Amino acid sequence: MSLQTLSEWLRCPNCFLPLTHTAELRLGCRTGHSFDVNKRGFINLLTGSSKFIGDSVTMLDARARFLAAGWYEPLQSAIQACIAEEHPNRILDVGCGTGYYLSAALPPGDEARALGMDISPTAVSRTIRSHDRVDGLVADVWSPLPLKGAAADVILNVFAPRNAAEFHRVLRPGGLLLVVIPRPSHLRELRQAGLAVQMQADKAAHLRSSLTSWFAQESHQQLDRTVHLPASEIASLIGMGPSSHHRAASSIVLDPALMQDVTIDFDIFGFRRRETASCITEA
Ligand SMILES: C[S@@+](CC[C@H](N)C(=O)[O-])C[C@H]1O[C@@H](n2cnc3c(N)ncnc32)[C@H](O)[C@@H]1O
Ligand SMILES: [Zn+2]
Repeated sequence: MSLQTLSEWLRCPNCFLPLTHTAELRLGCRTGHSFDVNKRGFINLLTGSSKFIGDSVTMLDARARFLAAGWYEPLQSAIQACIAEEHPNRILDVGCGTGYYLSAALPPGDEARALGMDISPTAVSRTIRSHDRVDGLVADVWSPLPLKGAAADVILNVFAPRNAAEFHRVLRPGGLLLVVIPRPSHLRELRQAGLAVQMQADKAAHLRSSLTSWFAQESHQQLDRTVHLPASEIASLIGMGPSSHHRAASSIVLDPALMQDVTIDFDIFGFRRRETASCITEA
């Protein structure tokens, strides 16, 4: 983390002027708004109260455990390959979670930098620990983002909320927005067993129509496989996702001897930023 590289991304959340390094562990704008950078090395630019809450520590622990076991490594590799083709200098991950995908996607060398953004301070704190060229920002994707225009070459968005108009502003002309969403059959067996919540059936269509005025779809990859999971991994998988909002992951009692086939199925979409926002709507 460096205050210099962190400030290069940022604008004031109040007056939208650039933020610069004004004192030790402080960034400020010309109007006089001033913000602490905490000792762990990230900045919190949430203004007012948000009605949205990020992932809890328990959910992030479950996510870290599940990802560390390598079950989503093919997705991590696919994201890394898509981003490598762009040769980006600035990668922004919105809804970064533990930083699992972002840290792997940073190209080698000293040039490329990344920013992990999440509404959860714990998530951002973990993300900046995942790589020494990753800075961190706590912000709400549904507010005007405290990020400068054209600050990112690539925006990564994995199973997280997105703000199309703001992504268009923050992405440089010609930049890539990479979005990963689950497909309808993702975790099918857990849904059938009542262990995971139902999912919106037309997620991909909804994604495309929500982005189409600002971005043109350029690529699509489907990644699916079946994994054979023990009870402990199933508990982590449930605990790290939306199902844990509906029932405490700790309340799920699974037979410790359980082994279950689980379908893992993702869509990876690449969207290219349109020059100007258009009025295109999907039929
Ligand atoms: C399902 S997790 C995905 C995390 C990470 N991308 C991954 O796949 O490992 C969704 C993430 O989005 C964050 N999030 C939820 N609402 C948000 C908001 N309004 N603004 C910013 N981040 C948000 C959560 O805190 C969480 O870390
Ligand atoms: Zn200001």
